[in-house]
Amino acid sequence: NLKLALLLLIAYLLGAIPNGVWIGKRFFHTDIRAEGSGNIGTTNTFRVLGPVAGSAVLILDLAKGTVATLLPIWFHITTNFSSPMLLLFGLMAILGHTVSIFDHFKGGKAVATSAGMLLAYNPILFVIAAALFVSLIYLTSMVSLASMVSFTIITILCFVIHDVYLSILAVGLTIFVYWRHRANIKRIINGTENMVPFGLGYKH
Ligand code: G3P
Repeated sequence: NLKLALLLLIAYLLGAIPNGVWIGKRFFHTDIRAEGSGNIGTTNTFRVLGPVAGSAVLILDLAKGTVATLLPIWFHITTNFSSPMLLLFGLMAILGHTVSIFDHFKGGKAVATSAGMLLAYNPILFVIAAALFVSLIYLTSMVSLASMVSFTIITILCFVIHDVYLSILAVGLTIFVYWRHRANIKRIINGTENMVPFGLGYKH
C-alpha cells in the first residue's frame, strides 16, 4: 500500500544522507572522499577531520539506521518490536547509506548504519556488538578488521538466538561488508592497513 511504500522511501532517503561528506564540506571545506581511505564513514572522518567531526558522523550514521528501523512502529505499521518489518526498514536505510542518491549512488561500508538498525531491533545484541567491536579495535588497532570480525561473530550469535529473519539479513550484510572492505582486506594482507593510534596493534 501507499503508506508503506512512502515510509520505505523515507527510510531509504534517511539512510542516503551522507553525513560525513556534508559535514566535511560544510564545516571543513574538505571532501573526505578524496582523503584518507576515501570512505564516507566514521573512521575516515576521524582520520581526516578529527574526533569532533568523527563523533558527529558516528552518532548521525547510527541514528539514521535506528530512526529508519523504528518508522514502522511510529507510523503504526506494526506494534511488534521483533517484527521483520523493522528489519526491512533498517535494510532500506542501509541501502540508502551504501547506494546513496546524494552521493552518485555510491556510499559507505554499512557498518554504523547496520549497528543503528540493531540498536532499534535488538538492543541487547547491539550492546554485545559494540563491546566486541571496541575490544577488537583495541586488540588489532584496525577498524576495518574489527568491523569484519564483529559482523561475523554477531551473525553467528543471530543463529544461536534462533532469530531467523535477523540471521538471513546478517549473513547477507556480512558478505556485503567483506565485499565493501576489499581494499582494506588487501591492505591488511600487505601489512599496510591504516591503524588507529591506540591499542595493542599500534606501533609507535
Ligand atoms: O567504517 C568502515 C571501517 O570499517 C573502515 O573504514 O576508512 O578505514 O576504510 P576505512
